[in-house]
Amino acid sequence: MTVILDCEITAHQEIAPGHKRIVLRAAPIAAAAAPGQFCMLEAHEGLYPFLRRPMSIEHIYKDGISILYKVLGLGTRLLAHMPTGAVINVQGPLGNSFPLPEGYDRYLMVGGGIGIAPFPALAEAIMQRLGRTPELVAAARSDGQLLLVKEFARMGCPVHIVTDDGSAGMKGYASDALRALEPDERTLVYCCGPTVMMAAVHEVCAERNVTCYASLEAEMACGDGVCMGCVVETTAEDEARRMARVCREGPIFDTRDINWKAGVRP
Ligand SMILES: Cc1cc2nc3c(=O)[nH]c(=O)nc-3n(C[C@H](O)[C@H](O)[C@H](O)COP(=O)(O)OP(=O)(O)OC[C@H]3O[C@@H](n4cnc5c(N)ncnc54)[C@H](O)[C@@H]3O)c2cc1C
Ligand code: FES
Repeated sequence: MTVILDCEITAHQEIAPGHKRIVLRAAPIAAAAAPGQFCMLEAHEGLYPFLRRPMSIEHIYKDGISILYKVLGLGTRLLAHMPTGAVINVQGPLGNSFPLPEGYDRYLMVGGGIGIAPFPALAEAIMQRLGRTPELVAAARSDGQLLLVKEFARMGCPVHIVTDDGSAGMKGYASDALRALEPDERTLVYCCGPTVMMAAVHEVCAERNVTCYASLEAEMACGDGVCMGCVVETTAEDEARRMARVCREGPIFDTRDINWKAGVRP
């Protein structure tokens, strides 16, 4: 069940240049949350910016959640200045969650930049509920922008690093690293990152008949299915089901259900 809650910030620290983790005391959200869901965070001075900002849930704890975010514009800059002990209004959990089907030989998460944010909770669920250890493809422009690599290694997840400029790991894109791992239909892929990356990951998976679930992004106003501001085009033939709301039918979609050529948000 979704709630709107004033949450105490119990920790807030920089984990890499321009990237922060915020930990929130939010037991009712944690109790209802599943990996892949998101929250809408209210970060404003006076009334501006008016709209809450959507953020994926990174970890689900007993008494709260953490969120990993990149400082981009006004909303995240204001958020970045909120001290430990302050209170922030949060709506969540929202959206659907990553499917966790049993029976695959390999579970592979592909994260580009801050797109890695929902994967710690997913990895924990795969380990606890399915008894499997997922692998991670961590992709970034360069070495300094890689996130959470040590954390995943500590969890025991094999980590495959790929950077655009070759400053760490393999030189290339996330989709190149995925192709090199030779996924087949016994592999389940999850991905999150820039749209161009997710479209390329989808191509690799489609070629090999691999199921892939992507966490999509869209600019959101209400976050809860009302405003229709976050719609994406699907491959559904039925016109009534052609457009899907990222906040309600998503943010997790089977990549075969998305019309990548229709221009999902860049
Ligand atoms: C379901 C969902 C989960 C998300 N999870 C995370 C997360 O875990 N960590 C994280 O750092 N970010 C996440 N985002 C993106 C995050 O919501 C935006 O980065 C944030 O809203 C930007 O707010 P701002 O006020 O700082 O920037 P703005 O001033 O609104 O914009 C600054 C720049 O960011 C771009 N931008 C704005 N909204 C988005 C968006 N939704 N996606 C991509 N670019 C955007 C703008 O076009 C502009 O270039 C998520 C988005 C969605 C929809
Ligand atoms: S953000 Fe309003 S319907 Fe999705």
